[in-house]
Amino acid sequence: MLDLEVTGNLRLHPNYCLLILTAAEPLPDMLPGQFVEVKVEHSSTTFLRRPISINYIDREKNELWLLIQLIGDGTRRMAEYQTGDFINLLLPLGNSFTTDIPGGKGQRLLLIGGGVGTAPLLYLGEVLKKSGYQPEFLLGARSQGDVLQLEDFNKIGPVHITTEDGSLGEKGYVTNHSILRNAEYNRIYTCGPKPMMVAVAKYAAENTIPCEASLENTMACGFGACLCCVEDTQDGNLCVCTEGPIFNTEKLKWLN
Ligand SMILES: Cc1cc2nc3c(=O)[nH]c(=O)nc-3n(C[C@H](O)[C@H](O)[C@H](O)COP(=O)(O)OP(=O)(O)OC[C@H]3O[C@@H](n4cnc5c(N)ncnc54)[C@H](O)[C@@H]3O)c2cc1C
Ligand code: FES
Repeated sequence: MLDLEVTGNLRLHPNYCLLILTAAEPLPDMLPGQFVEVKVEHSSTTFLRRPISINYIDREKNELWLLIQLIGDGTRRMAEYQTGDFINLLLPLGNSFTTDIPGGKGQRLLLIGGGVGTAPLLYLGEVLKKSGYQPEFLLGARSQGDVLQLEDFNKIGPVHITTEDGSLGEKGYVTNHSILRNAEYNRIYTCGPKPMMVAVAKYAAENTIPCEASLENTMACGFGACLCCVEDTQDGNLCVCTEGPIFNTEKLKWLN
């Protein structure tokens, strides 16, 4: 458990903010795909911590970034934090995406995110790039203004975009993007709304591409005690907070 200081809270969009946090001591090691549980301070309605993905770690500045979509009381309260406030976090939690990939550095890796599901893919892309891989991104959003952190993604690798209204990139959903018909990928990582991830898992299965998905089941305790985050998998019922949130999509029962 750590108390981190807010050094920035940027409103990237009316419904999204980027919280930038730091600590006096070096931040602990955190792996892409892991998450934190945020204690929501000064809220009379939100008692349980809220799970938020690790969006980015800037080791030089000793910063942890959290990208937050304002959904209910807890996340709206997080958007009100100001520079100098302290937030209590449980971290790091959960397992991580595979970043040591069998088959060598020349493989084509596609990171597919939709909505706030793009959050863990920024740090994943950075770690993959630093490990010698060349990740590509496929980001889906409703409209141009909903494509978040595009400049940051562009620094890491090629970015392909779909928007539902066609205002940026190709029109439609991520699974309609032409690169999925024209390029061959060796591995896919995905995070976003469940229908999107199911469609990505289907594409991966049909093309025999290994695929990992980050699940966002509703959570309470975050450490395996309350069983409210359970997912029915080929290996039985598993807690997403401790056995996940990253699952090989072959292990899920989404396509059965
Ligand atoms: C492992 C994990 C990582 C996550 N990473 C991020 C992240 O990086 N950024 C981010 O903004 N959000 C993320 N989420 C989702 C985030 O935890 C919820 O949006 C948040 O808990 C909602 O809290 P609230 O108090 O604002 O809303 P509440 O008042 O609790 O709920 C408001 C509405 O949102 C719905 N809701 C609550 N939790 C979820 C959920 N997990 N998925 C879908 N709908 C939900 C509720 O059913 C309700 O309708 C993550 C969730 C998990 C499990
Ligand atoms: S959130 Fe309590 S068991 Fe997973």
